[in-house]
Amino acid sequence: MSTLKEKFQEKAEPQAAKIKEMLKESGDLIVGQVNIAQMYGGMRGVRALVTETSSLDPERGIRFRGYPIPELKEKLPKAEGGVEPLPEGLLYLMLIGELPTDEDVKAISQDLAARSDVPDNVFKVLDALPVETHPMTQFSIGVMAMQSDSLFAKAYREGVHKSKLWDSMFEDSMNLIARLPRIAAYIYNRKYRDNKQVEPDKSLDWAANFAHMLGFKDDGFKKLMRLYLTIHADHEGGNVSAHSTHLVGSALSDAYLSFAAGLNGLAGPLHGLANQEVIRWVLNMREELGVKVPSKEQISEYVKKTLNSGKVVPGYGHAVLRQTDPRFTAQMEFAKENLPDDELVNIIWNIYDVVPDILESLGKVKNPWPNVDAHSGALLLHYGMKEYDFYTVLFGVSRALGVLASLCWDRMLGLPIERPKSTTTKWVKHFIEETKGDTELTD
Ligand SMILES: CC(C)(COP(=O)(O)OP(=O)(O)OC[C@H]1O[C@@H](n2cnc3c(N)ncnc32)[C@H](O)[C@@H]1OP(=O)(O)O)[C@@H](O)C(=O)NCCC(=O)NCCS
Repeated sequence: MSTLKEKFQEKAEPQAAKIKEMLKESGDLIVGQVNIAQMYGGMRGVRALVTETSSLDPERGIRFRGYPIPELKEKLPKAEGGVEPLPEGLLYLMLIGELPTDEDVKAISQDLAARSDVPDNVFKVLDALPVETHPMTQFSIGVMAMQSDSLFAKAYREGVHKSKLWDSMFEDSMNLIARLPRIAAYIYNRKYRDNKQVEPDKSLDWAANFAHMLGFKDDGFKKLMRLYLTIHADHEGGNVSAHSTHLVGSALSDAYLSFAAGLNGLAGPLHGLANQEVIRWVLNMREELGVKVPSKEQISEYVKKTLNSGKVVPGYGHAVLRQTDPRFTAQMEFAKENLPDDELVNIIWNIYDVVPDILESLGKVKNPWPNVDAHSGALLLHYGMKEYDFYTVLFGVSRALGVLASLCWDRMLGLPIERPKSTTTKWVKHFIEETKGDTELTD
């Protein structure tokens, strides 16, 4: 059986050649326009990136290589006796574009386990940080501490032909994916469990070993990790973590430098940090109201108070989605199956009943529906992970699968350095005047 790398080469090389041909023939076809509002408005809807691994439909949500989450849950290989998909299978799908077999996935689990040893200097770097440093900052520093191991940076220095650079990018990406759970678990145990570290169990799959190293023995938590690490892996190319990774990688920065950039973007509260913000907001609501289970009326009042104080309701809204996020629904289904009576989960469901109408009534929120972050905290808390500052690190471990698979494609396709044109308000004003016929346009 050929390795994942051989399969990737078999699939991607001919695809890269076809894309070159396509560009020669059709490169000048216009796919869209940009208006001034988009220039100032975070480039919403500007179709200017190519990402192979997944794409996002505003109404139907994420499709990984065309497969929606319910279909993935059905079709991706599972652990023995398990019901949740293995994230290794999604990695295969995103890289190769086809569903893997059980053997394919087993081979990836084994390959990742074999690559998972973390150099000692990484732990020393982490030990040197004040323990109160935010886990996402520690995680990013842990990734950067491994950069000296980059095979891509070495290959570039040694003058490897640019058409072959995808090979070392692939190796770096797999090494990084293999090591991330260990680094994340090390940070968790050092910060929250008196530095009680757990040795990896290389016989386990990637997600189960992560749960094990985090010190969780419950099979339910392992199951949750498999689902969590699958559904957070990718959300097409324009989101902050994916785009940052891609942008930095376009300068031929290696996978460590590029992924650390993505993690730093993920650590923003409007992006991945919403993972921790939701549960903080819910716990604050309980504390402020002085009740364990607030009624829908009380939730409604608290939501209005949040909005009146100029804050967003975390876990709601999205830059692209215009419906309930299928990643929210997948977690809701997991909860219905595994923890239907959990108090906090029921609060999350009551919030879901209340928030969309209120956000809708503001008249400006384009998507009043919940996103992925609205549910995850309640599930993690149920299994005993109460340190919500850590939640975005879990997101980061998962996000590596998508953005690093994309980085391998970027190098295989030989995509150039990213460099959109920026402009000044002075230019925009001139442009408006010129368009209205008042003056002549100059740069
Ligand atoms: C995700 C998010 C950043 C998308 O931003 P966006 O694309 O600019 O969203 P919109 O176009 O709908 O924003 C229009 C207005 O509605 C507001 N809005 C959007 N979502 C909101 C929310 N959940 N609560 C309150 N107001 C919200 C915006 O802040 C903006 O207000 P402004 O015009 O006064 O600045 C935004 O919905 C948000 O802040 N959500 C909460 C944080 C979160 O859950 N992030 C995780 C995303 S996966």
